[in-house]
Amino acid sequence: MRLILLGPPGAGKGTQASGIVEKFKIPHISTGDIFRKNIKEGTQLGIKAKEYMDKGLLVPDELVVEIVKDRLLKEDCKEGFLLDGFPRTVAQAEALDKVLYEYNMKLDKVINIEVDKSILVDRAVGRRICKECGATFHIKFNPSKVEGKCDVCGGELYQRADDNEETVSKRIQVYLDQTKPLIDYYSEKEILSTINGEQPIDKVFEDIVSALGCEK
Ligand code: AP5
Ligand code: ZN
Repeated sequence: MRLILLGPPGAGKGTQASGIVEKFKIPHISTGDIFRKNIKEGTQLGIKAKEYMDKGLLVPDELVVEIVKDRLLKEDCKEGFLLDGFPRTVAQAEALDKVLYEYNMKLDKVINIEVDKSILVDRAVGRRICKECGATFHIKFNPSKVEGKCDVCGGELYQRADDNEETVSKRIQVYLDQTKPLIDYYSEKEILSTINGEQPIDKVFEDIVSALGCEK
């Protein structure tokens, strides 16, 4: 299964991605996670990406496309993959089409998670992530059992540098201007399914699985 998860910041892409990759046994390719790993390791790519991410802006297309292009060539992508946070501009979507054509691969589905703007800021600002295993929680909507500790591995929880109100608002605006046009792009290709992301996490997952034509 070759999938894309589309949606604004805080829509629940990362949250749903973990269930999807477990169910379908496909790799989770999150461009945001790749950049954050590079920032942590202090690589050249990380240093460049940080400049944009801290401002809530998109990293330039050519940088992102190269990373995804290399990643999709890896052995574990042969049977499928889940792209989370890519593509994010029409130029990236066109570049992806070209890469998939070259690799003789076809997308099965684009899942568009829809959440009203008024909810998104709260979702992102309250998000907490495990330093050790990357599991995601929310201080109000999905709290961990012990405050500040991960339910999965007991690791310490942290807040992302770009999850403050100002940067989140900028990221939402960037989404509306540059990423939202992809809804029409994939709708015209007749592979788009829109899911109501304002429901409980389990219900959103159920709807995604049924949009993929599978049972829970
Ligand atoms: P990226 O890491 O991709 O972040 P994003 O798209 O802004 O999305 P988020 O991770 O904020 O949200 P999400 O939808 O995954 O929500 P989550 O599941 O965590 O990108 C970061 C930056 O990297 C970009 O700004 C850009 O600079 C750069 N970048 C990345 N890719 C790029 C690209 N292709 N091109 C250029 N630049 C790129 O959920 C959020 C919170 O809500 C959590 O706390 C969760 O517990 C909670 N929650 C989830 N679902 C529900 C629910 N149903 N009900 C209640 N709470 C819920
Ligand atoms: Zn953990």
